[in-house]
Amino acid sequence: MTIKILGVGSSMRQGSFSTVALKIVLDFAKQNGAQTRLLDLQQTQLPMLYSKDKETKEIQKVTDDVKWAEAFILATPDYHGSMSGSMKNFLDYFWSVFAGKLFGYICASHEKGLTVMDQMRTAVRQCYGWSMPYGISVNGEEDFNGVEITNDKIKSRLEMLARDLVVYGKPIREQFVTDLKGTESKTFAAHYRK
Ligand SMILES: Cc1cc2nc3c(=O)[nH]c(=O)nc-3n(C[C@H](O)[C@H](O)[C@H](O)COP(=O)(O)O)c2cc1C
Repeated sequence: MTIKILGVGSSMRQGSFSTVALKIVLDFAKQNGAQTRLLDLQQTQLPMLYSKDKETKEIQKVTDDVKWAEAFILATPDYHGSMSGSMKNFLDYFWSVFAGKLFGYICASHEKGLTVMDQMRTAVRQCYGWSMPYGISVNGEEDFNGVEITNDKIKSRLEMLARDLVVYGKPIREQFVTDLKGTESKTFAAHYRK
């Protein structure tokens, strides 16, 4: 089975460092055998949850991509120690399809982005998603030449994240699907049977 990974970029800034890093991880994931898609919330803007906007073709496409995904990479800027509003809205919008899927985290920060990634982890945990035990923080001034990543250590960590997400994401998803189809009641997947 090849794992399907959706990368979610949530910066509205042109030339976003977190989105550049995300694209690199998606490329590495592909090299590790994953199928990948990118949801860049700068290009495809989601309405706020419960806003009056009607279901558009664009929203339908995003919904299809999210349901298609078996694992996610969430990329966000550090905004006051937290995630971007668009990332929070994405998590609120699609919380119901995160259970039994693995999540990896990227943060563009001048610090280490630890509280930012912890807050995304908390939201994902509330939705019964699984999280990678580490995340990757990129610093626009130190790790980029303005456009591309020049820090080889960071590139290598992004490669590691892609590899780990593919390798750990597969068994987590497979076991969840097996449990979902089974009859065992003492598994959290039982709560998701229809
Ligand atoms: C509203 C706002 C709040 C920010 N708060 C922080 C912060 O608390 N800590 C930090 O290190 N950087 C902070 N930054 C800087 C951004 O995290 C940094 O510029 C990052 O590279 C933006 O991500 P992007 O390049 O993906 O857009 C803030 C930027 C903005 C616009």
